Amino acid sequence: MSATGHQKWWRDAVVYQIYVRSFADADGDGIGDLRGITTRIPYISSLGVDAVWLTPFFPSPQRDHGYDVADYVDVDPQYGTLADVDDLVAACHAHGLRLLADIVPNHCSSEHRWFRDALAAPPGSAARRRFFFRDGRGDDGELPPNNWPAAFGGSVWTRVADGQWYLATFTPWQPDFDWSDPAVVADFDDILRFWLDRGVDGFRVDAVTHVGKAPGLPDMPPLEDGVGEIAAAGHNSYGMYWPSAHNVWRHWRDTVDAFECEHPGREVVLVAEAYTARRPDLLMDYVRPDEFHEAFSFDLMLAPWHAPSIHRAIDDTIATLHANGAAVTWTLNNHDTQRIVTRLGRPEAEDPESWTGNALSTTGTDIDLAVGDRRARALTALAFAVPGSLYLYQGEELGLPEVFDIPDDRREDPVFHLTDGEGLGRDGCRIPLPWSTEAATSFGFSTPARDGSVGEPWLPQPVAWGDYAAADQAADDESMLAFYRRLSAARRLRRWPARSSPS
Ligand code: NOJ
Repeated sequence: MSATGHQKWWRDAVVYQIYVRSFADADGDGIGDLRGITTRIPYISSLGVDAVWLTPFFPSPQRDHGYDVADYVDVDPQYGTLADVDDLVAACHAHGLRLLADIVPNHCSSEHRWFRDALAAPPGSAARRRFFFRDGRGDDGELPPNNWPAAFGGSVWTRVADGQWYLATFTPWQPDFDWSDPAVVADFDDILRFWLDRGVDGFRVDAVTHVGKAPGLPDMPPLEDGVGEIAAAGHNSYGMYWPSAHNVWRHWRDTVDAFECEHPGREVVLVAEAYTARRPDLLMDYVRPDEFHEAFSFDLMLAPWHAPSIHRAIDDTIATLHANGAAVTWTLNNHDTQRIVTRLGRPEAEDPESWTGNALSTTGTDIDLAVGDRRARALTALAFAVPGSLYLYQGEELGLPEVFDIPDDRREDPVFHLTDGEGLGRDGCRIPLPWSTEAATSFGFSTPARDGSVGEPWLPQPVAWGDYAAADQAADDESMLAFYRRLSAARRLRRWPARSSPS
């Protein structure tokens, strides 16, 4: 509860995630943009949600579609301008919606000025201390400084021209920050303030479990047999869950709390992407009273179609978090995960023994989408009903399936390219949305440019994508869209006490 006696809005909010590149394209270039989102606010509002989370829209070379940020306080020209952000914030607030931005603290783009300065500066310089630059091993430093695997394949280390190496947990284009450097802390304070001053209501915070590393960066112990290339990084306890990061999150919470005190009426939320599969005890570390307000529980998303497993995922999460006074945050889909109707339509979904929940699975055969659709409805209804907040991902309300049929040369996800296709990657859940049945405008995704042209969508849409068109579903009581609208209307009815409005 807040000082004025109402419940904080985010504790039971339904939040709609927008993958900016794939939501709506207002200028006909085949790439989603901020103005496209603004034109669709009435649709978002009609879903009965409380807030919108936008994936990163900052300037970026787009090697990992915005999760490689080249400037944290501006907008990528592909997506619009700062004035477009202001318009979007205003449009959201006018419809009673809050707006969350996505902040990436573990790494930036190798094109960020800070990293370019570090490359130009000598070993041991202040510019290099922002990152993890180290000498290599071997007679000439030709071997990487340690044996850590990268999250998207290969090693975390990349060698630079003067012979030093830098650490990048995800791709070589995303160098990790060293958060023990006070300059990093100070710069992110300014970044948070910048967006809060522009009216943003909170932040989804990316990959928080990777922030902080064991001092000395020791070799990780050998992996057990059978751990694949992509899973390997998740086994590195020296590069994940390192406790020093919690000082950072406490500091961020102080920053946000101070902002709220200075701006009565503003209620800001910090939501952690803390990947702690089936370990609610670990998740709890991130939602201690002086850290994040919320952290996604991915356990329901990872659960097989098996009642005891689903039951356990819910019970364990609620029991652990509530015992410590923390809010619970559910999600069944996001831009990194195979879409739910496909996932639950897979033949092995019923078998808890063989089910990995692996979002990057290459399995694309024997999927029964009709079964997946029914299961998705049941699990979604459950997710709307259990205590906590719920984050939806664009397109799940249309029942969109995962798209497998993307030519290799149109695939964009670095996971696909860095693993030589071993990991199919996440493009299949990022296909531009179908708004209408009109193929000439990429199913309503693109508004034609001034000269009437319509660019090809950045990822190809299946020919039958119009079967899922939002416009048609809106007119059909049995559609997935109508189902979602009913669920959120029912959820709103049971709300008490009242929530504040965005201001
Ligand atoms: C998690 C994001 O959700 C994902 O899309 C991204 O590739 C990684 N973090 C790296 O930032």
